[in-house]
Amino acid sequence: MAHREAGGGGSPFGGSDSTEIGPIVVPASELARRVRELGAEITEDYRDRAPLLVSVLKGAFVFASDLSRAIRLPVEMDFMAISSYGMATKSSGVVRIVKDLDQDLTGRHVLVVEDIVDSGLTLSYLRRSLLARNPASLEVCALLVKDGQQRIPLDLRYVGFHVPADFVVGYGLDVQERYRNLPDLRVFLGEGS
Ligand code: PRP
Repeated sequence: MAHREAGGGGSPFGGSDSTEIGPIVVPASELARRVRELGAEITEDYRDRAPLLVSVLKGAFVFASDLSRAIRLPVEMDFMAISSYGMATKSSGVVRIVKDLDQDLTGRHVLVVEDIVDSGLTLSYLRRSLLARNPASLEVCALLVKDGQQRIPLDLRYVGFHVPADFVVGYGLDVQERYRNLPDLRVFLGEGS
């Protein structure tokens, strides 16, 4: 991947912390292109079914918003928040439900929309939790998969990009709640990365 700007890193939105933000990993234009492709693929695969998009907050909110508009079907959306304990930037493997779904999943065609799969522990937990609610089907669409980080096998139906194991921010991904609104996916160079 490793798209880089002329002149190296940048200061996308200025501010005193801007030196924390490094080169672009995936530019906004490439994210948009891939999201359109994924939307078309999902539209084709689910053409006789109305999928329920289950988005995992907070990081997936940008991707889910764009992906839903790239799917030409009557989708429904629901949200769940599963957070690692603490503010550590590395996955601890310990998760908790911050917000549960509003909808009953029984008989629904559930498509989980995740922003990033790192260790895979969050997704593993989520899959077990959702399958116990008897959906008609359960698939996963992950925008980003970090290379070489998964400790367990994952069944990912749709993947946007495989990215290096750098700490990345932007397009919904944060560090301590900042940088989610950066349009490009970028390397985070600051403390804790
Ligand atoms: C991120 C991301 C995934 C999870 C992936 O969430 O959104 O849910 O980590 O990590 P894993 O594969 O190692 O389990 P985070 O806990 O940072 O919360 P956020 O989405 O609110 O930023």
